[in-house]
Amino acid sequence: MNIAVGGAADADPAFRDSVLAGLAAEQKCIASKWLYDEVGSRLFDVITVLPEYYPTRIEAGILRERVGDLAAVVPEGAALIELGSGSSAKTRILLDAVPQVTSYVPVDISAAYLHAAAQQLASDYPGVDVHPVVADFTRSFTVPPHLAGAPKLLFFPGSTIGNFAIGEAEALLRRMAAMPGVAAFVVGVDLKKDPGTLVRAYDDAAGVTAAFNLNLLGRLNRELGADFDLAAFGHEARWNVPFGRIEMHLVSRREQRVTVAGEAIRFRPGETIHTENSHKYDPEDFGRLALTAGWRVADMWVDDTRCFSVQVLRPALPS
Ligand code: AVJ
Repeated sequence: MNIAVGGAADADPAFRDSVLAGLAAEQKCIASKWLYDEVGSRLFDVITVLPEYYPTRIEAGILRERVGDLAAVVPEGAALIELGSGSSAKTRILLDAVPQVTSYVPVDISAAYLHAAAQQLASDYPGVDVHPVVADFTRSFTVPPHLAGAPKLLFFPGSTIGNFAIGEAEALLRRMAAMPGVAAFVVGVDLKKDPGTLVRAYDDAAGVTAAFNLNLLGRLNRELGADFDLAAFGHEARWNVPFGRIEMHLVSRREQRVTVAGEAIRFRPGETIHTENSHKYDPEDFGRLALTAGWRVADMWVDDTRCFSVQVLRPALPS
């Protein structure tokens, strides 16, 4: 008897099509947003507390020290809109310091995870209305209609903007600049530094980042009826000098043939699937990018070691 390809029939077609297109490319690739199923979201939370993964810790320190400055520019009754909210850990720092915020709109691609985090936050902040939006913000998303006219504080922490190529980052910034009533856009941006520190942050000694990367193949097995042998792939983090980015790859340990959603995919030994880009900026470069996309840099907060920056953007043209 022929057993139906598990999961493939009812899989999200956007996911299946995106994965198959990436695996058919000359340099095989899978978009990094697909790393965040429930298992991936949990593994990412473990990454944020690893000794080698500095961004979360440093950014939270910067925010704790400086975020009170925002109280002066955020109007009463503002909606806090967070892109890629994950577990909403940094949101609390903002809510504690900016009491003008009366509603919170976390936007995330991982539905189960988003709702759990939103519920927890709502119970901890009874004065804040929480309206989670399940959406892929790399495409577009809609603010709940009753908040369309509210003043807005946009929050995009974690240097997730680094996952975008420069042109895509500019397009996202431009799209956000078109949103009416934005008081400020707070963006976490990781900075260029010595390659050793960068590579260790994406290839930790405990192997959590490797598990996070390999979970993508596990997800393909679970949701697209794929038959990857996870032991036949390794994790690699590379610093790409000309592009100024850390890349994550899954490296085939041998010649192999895998089936994904009914399609045969061949791998040469050493061939990779490129699974993530994490661009690092010079502070001035990011400022220039924001400027071309309709923002001005009202403030830039950097830690003592110039490791990470939090950029406070305001619309170039008041809305
Ligand atoms: C959540 C996208 C900001 O690029 O640093 C962490 C994801 N990947 N370790 C990053 C990630 C590997 C992270 N972002």
